[in-house]
Amino acid sequence: MHEMRTIPVTDELTAELRAYAVAMRDGFHEAPITADGWARWHEAIRHDGARLRGVFDPDRPFGLASVPVGTFASFPGTINTGTELAPTNCITDVTVAASHRRRGIMQQMMTTDLNEARERGDVFAALTATDTRLYGRFGFGVTADSRRIEINTGHSFGLISQPSGSCVFATGDDASAVRRSLFERWHAEQFWSITRHHHYWQPGFDWATQTARHDRHIIHLDDDGHADAAAVIVVRDDHVEIRDLLGLSHRAELEIIRFVALLETHDKVVWRHCFDVRHPLPWAVTDRRSVSVVKEFDTLWVRIVDVERALASRSYEGDGEATIRVVDPLDDNTFTYRIRVAGGQPDVETTSREPDATLPLDSLAPIYSALQGPKELASAGRAQGTPEGLARVARLFAREEPGISASIF
Ligand SMILES: CC(C)(COP(=O)(O)OP(=O)(O)OC[C@H]1O[C@@H](n2cnc3c(N)ncnc32)[C@H](O)[C@@H]1OP(=O)(O)O)[C@@H](O)C(=O)NCCC(=O)NCCS
Repeated sequence: MHEMRTIPVTDELTAELRAYAVAMRDGFHEAPITADGWARWHEAIRHDGARLRGVFDPDRPFGLASVPVGTFASFPGTINTGTELAPTNCITDVTVAASHRRRGIMQQMMTTDLNEARERGDVFAALTATDTRLYGRFGFGVTADSRRIEINTGHSFGLISQPSGSCVFATGDDASAVRRSLFERWHAEQFWSITRHHHYWQPGFDWATQTARHDRHIIHLDDDGHADAAAVIVVRDDHVEIRDLLGLSHRAELEIIRFVALLETHDKVVWRHCFDVRHPLPWAVTDRRSVSVVKEFDTLWVRIVDVERALASRSYEGDGEATIRVVDPLDDNTFTYRIRVAGGQPDVETTSREPDATLPLDSLAPIYSALQGPKELASAGRAQGTPEGLARVARLFAREEPGISASIF
């Protein structure tokens, strides 16, 4: 018989906390945690206000009964809906020991956590998925993508625009403070931005391998000397890796790329996560083929926990009206919603009217974030409606740019 319980996050790194982290690492088959790793993990879960949950099997042999067979963490966060930073349940550490899989343990942890999120009044639940087959059944849908970009920075590299401002190096702690403050400003303005967790501000350590990493930090200053973009780079054997790059404008980000390209040690720069799928970088270089998108992948999966509130909280770029039938696999939000936007103000109510489109909850998520439209989702077999109805929904949710999320957790 299994027992699920919460694990208190205390100022002392207790045996219970250690057992949780060991089980979570084992679940992902990752390297054991080092002394430095323990200190960083403990600091991060306290900063993030983590809620840790473990499932225990009292009959586990070889003295392992106190080591959980299932781990699950969630953190309070926010998503920018265009009108507010809406409370969001950020989920991570989802593992079940290989010896205990396919017995419903993940299902139990997830449904318990999602029920608590609804009771707390969270509008969204969010995660970044290692395995994409797991979360649709809980109503999570893909809402943001990221690109891995390679830049050939050999002799022919150049940007069309003239340089502006200047780039400077900074040390880890100073740079983390600047990066954090830039992120907070960006998060407050950017539609679909989600909170970044504490690990983003813990430089110089590779969590996966539990080894020190020689990060270099670059800050771009505008013409008035104010920081408007920052990057963390690592020099690898045959390329320079941009581990993180975030600016208040595309122009500021391009200045950092210009600087990294001119380091002159390598002919290749790899930008691991370009979170803006419409980033102008390929249009900014003199040789279009010096920039290649080598991979595009899903990043933020969202379950809309409270559909009515989420629809009322979203910013819409034009006035209009549409009626959608939402089908929630967990049933909490299975209703027909009528959305009327006048003067930019949405009015949302449940209705018995005929819907323009029928959307499983996991398909409403990319429509909400403007990653994908209802017509395309219908073609893919993920939505239903008449061409006119789908077009009405598409017009209402259309945005000049899709949302951007710059966090992986
Ligand atoms: C993914 C993982 C947590 C699943 O845990 P679990 O306890 O075996 O899952 P459950 O038994 O609760 O399964 C719940 C549902 O998911 C399905 N499912 C579980 N693992 C799956 C997989 N790898 N692929 C497809 N479906 C899967 C189950 O079939 C079940 O659906 P059903 O009720 O329709 O049969 C576990 O396999 C694991 O720890 N994997 C390694 C770590 C990992 O990838 N974690 C995910 C991080 S995002």
